[in-house]
Amino acid sequence: MSAGFLIALEGIDGSGKTTQAKLLVKWLRGRGFDAYYTYEPTRGIFGRILRSMAYKRGVDPRMEALLFAADRLQHLEHVIEPLLARGLIVVSDRYLHSSLAYQSVTTGDQGWVEELNRFARRPDLGIYLDLGASESLSRLRKRRRSRFEDEDFLEHVRRKYLEYVDEGELIKVNAEKPVAEVFSEIALIVERALKGGR
Ligand code: TMP
Repeated sequence: MSAGFLIALEGIDGSGKTTQAKLLVKWLRGRGFDAYYTYEPTRGIFGRILRSMAYKRGVDPRMEALLFAADRLQHLEHVIEPLLARGLIVVSDRYLHSSLAYQSVTTGDQGWVEELNRFARRPDLGIYLDLGASESLSRLRKRRRSRFEDEDFLEHVRRKYLEYVDEGELIKVNAEKPVAEVFSEIALIVERALKGGR
């Protein structure tokens, strides 16, 4: 058991995860905690392959699921676990549930995706930023879209995330609200979790 605390921020593209994860790290540091921001896909070897595949057509979703799982194990071994062992609070912008949601949809085999990711520990706290797919796409309109940025697809991914909310693995926050309001909700959830009341 590691001494630190792993917080994962999840959501479909455009839900504001990166902004909120960085605000959270700043807020935690301001309260005297040692906190660290990290993200997936990583800048490691598998993450780089995944990013280079994001705009290509005809990629086998099973192969991609394997790469996301490999990237995660590398992330855990080289970044997350050592920081947790030093007692830090690690805030990851996407983690395990990104695969459980996205790859369950792309491969159509949630059980297999769960199995592939069996060696990735669950986060201590998983926060899901909920946003409708059409709102997500209108936020992303201005930039080039990857294969993952299609309305039907994102709505399916959203439903998968909501299943994990229903199972109590993720806590849902409405991400359609202004950034500051979303953040104060996140801060409350984190405060409660750190006091042991998750
Ligand atoms: P990003 O836009 O947050 O950098 O993520 C890149 C894309 O990778 C995003 O569309 C979601 C996708 N993704 C997965 O499909 N599975 C995963 O396990 C992760 C970490 C990301």
